[in-house]
Amino acid sequence: MNILIIGNGGREHALAWKIRQSSLCNKLYIAPGNAGTGQVGENVSIAVDDFEGLGKFCLDKKLDLVVVGPEVPLVKGIRDYFESHENLKSIALVGPGQQGAQLEGSKDFSKQFMIRHGVPTAKARTFLSHESAEAVKYLETCTPPLVLKADGLAAGKGVIITSSVMEAQQAIKEMLEEKKFGEASSKVLVEEFLDGIELSVFVLTDGNDYVILPEAKDYKRIGDGDTGPNTGGMGAVSPVAFADAAFMKKVEEKVIKPTVLGLKKESIPFKGFIFIGLMNVKGEPQVIEYNTRMGDPETEAVMTRIESDLVELLSACAHGKLKGKQITISPNYAVTVVMASGGYPDNFEKGKIISGIGESDEALVFHAGTLKRENEILTHGGRVLAVTGRGKNLVDATARAYARARQITWEGVYYRKDIGQDLARVESELRN
Ligand code: AMP
Ligand code: GLY
Repeated sequence: MNILIIGNGGREHALAWKIRQSSLCNKLYIAPGNAGTGQVGENVSIAVDDFEGLGKFCLDKKLDLVVVGPEVPLVKGIRDYFESHENLKSIALVGPGQQGAQLEGSKDFSKQFMIRHGVPTAKARTFLSHESAEAVKYLETCTPPLVLKADGLAAGKGVIITSSVMEAQQAIKEMLEEKKFGEASSKVLVEEFLDGIELSVFVLTDGNDYVILPEAKDYKRIGDGDTGPNTGGMGAVSPVAFADAAFMKKVEEKVIKPTVLGLKKESIPFKGFIFIGLMNVKGEPQVIEYNTRMGDPETEAVMTRIESDLVELLSACAHGKLKGKQITISPNYAVTVVMASGGYPDNFEKGKIISGIGESDEALVFHAGTLKRENEILTHGGRVLAVTGRGKNLVDATARAYARARQITWEGVYYRKDIGQDLARVESELRN
C-alpha cells in the first residue's frame, strides 16, 4: 500500500515509525512532515488543510490510504472533500467527516451528545455571546473551582479553571464579549469541576466495531508537579496503573459502547480515532472531552506498545472492516518526555541547532518541531522532540527516557523532570 500521513508533529513521526514497520506499507509520504518523518518516509510540502493539493498528490502517487493526524483538517472537512470528488472517493481515509469531527470541534455538541447517550460527564451549561450577563449571574450560584470551556478549537488553550467566582466572571466576560479565543469562544460552557486522576483512552472505530488501543496519561502543565500554564502536552506514560482491567471494563461499557452506538443511532459515519479524555473520579470514569484523532504526545508512547500490524488495522478501519480484528499490546512500559524550546508555551525562539540527537539504543527520539538544514537539525516549534524510553516497568522506562534526553541539547532546552513520578507513587500505593 502507498500511504500518506497528514501532519507534522511528534504524533505523525510516531505513526510513521509504526506504519513503516508493516510489510503492507510500500511507499510512505508525510505532508508536510518534519526532520524526523523525513528519515522514515518522504516529506511532501503540502499544508494539512490544502485539500486540493493533497487530493492531487494522492492521485499522482496512486495512494491507497490516507491517515489524518491533526484535528484541523478533520474539522475543516477533509473526508467530506475526498468523498465529494469522484476520483478521490475510493481512497481509504482514516479520520471522521466534518459531522463526526464535531465531537472535538464543538464542546457544546459533544456535551449534548454525551447527555443524549448517557455517557457519564460533568454537568454543564452553555452561554452564547449575547448571554454574558446571564452567565455572570449564573456563576454567582456555583461553587468553585469553576471550569470554563470555549466551545470551538483553541489549540488546547480554551479551558480555564478558576478558584474564585470573581475570576470566573472576569474570564467569561473576556471569552464571550472580547472573544478571547476568537470565534471559538462565541459559545462558552460552564462546567462542574471533576476531582480525580486523568487518563486518555484511544479507540479506533469504523462506526460499527472498534479496537481499544493502549491507554496513556498525559502531562499537560509546563512545570514539574503540574504547575504553570497548560501546554499541548509535556509527557506521556503508558500503561496507567490505576486503569486496571476492572476500570477499563467500566470505560468500555459506560463510555466506548454508548459513544460508538450513539454515532450510529444519529447516522454519523465515523471511521477514525476517538480519543477520550477521562477523569477517574473515585473509580468511576467521567468524560472530560472527546478528540477525533490521536493525542500528542500520547501517540509517541502508545505506538511503541502496539504489537499488531497497524496498517492492517488502519486499512480495516477505513474500509469498514474492523469486525473481528484484534489488537495485541505489549505489557512493556513506555515513558515519553517532551523536550521543548525555552519560553514555550509563551514566546520562544526557533532555529537553534540540536546536538546529541544521533543514533542510540537507549530510547526512541520522535521529532515534533524540527527542521533539517543541510547536515543540521534545528528547532522549529514549541515542542521539539518527544523521547520515549521503553522498559519492563515504569522505573526502567523512565530512566531510559531521561538518560536519552540528557544526551540531547540546544540553547534554551527545557523539559519536565517528573514525568511518571505521580504514577510511580500510585503504583506503590496499589502494591501496599
Ligand atoms: P480539555 O481541553 O477539555 O482537555 O481540557 C483541558 C484540561 O482541563 C483537561 O485536561 C483537564 O485537566 C482540565 N479539565 C477540563 N474539564 C475539567 C473538569 N470538568 N474538571 C476538572 N478539570 C477539567
Ligand atoms: N495531549 C493532548 C492532545 O493531544 O490533545
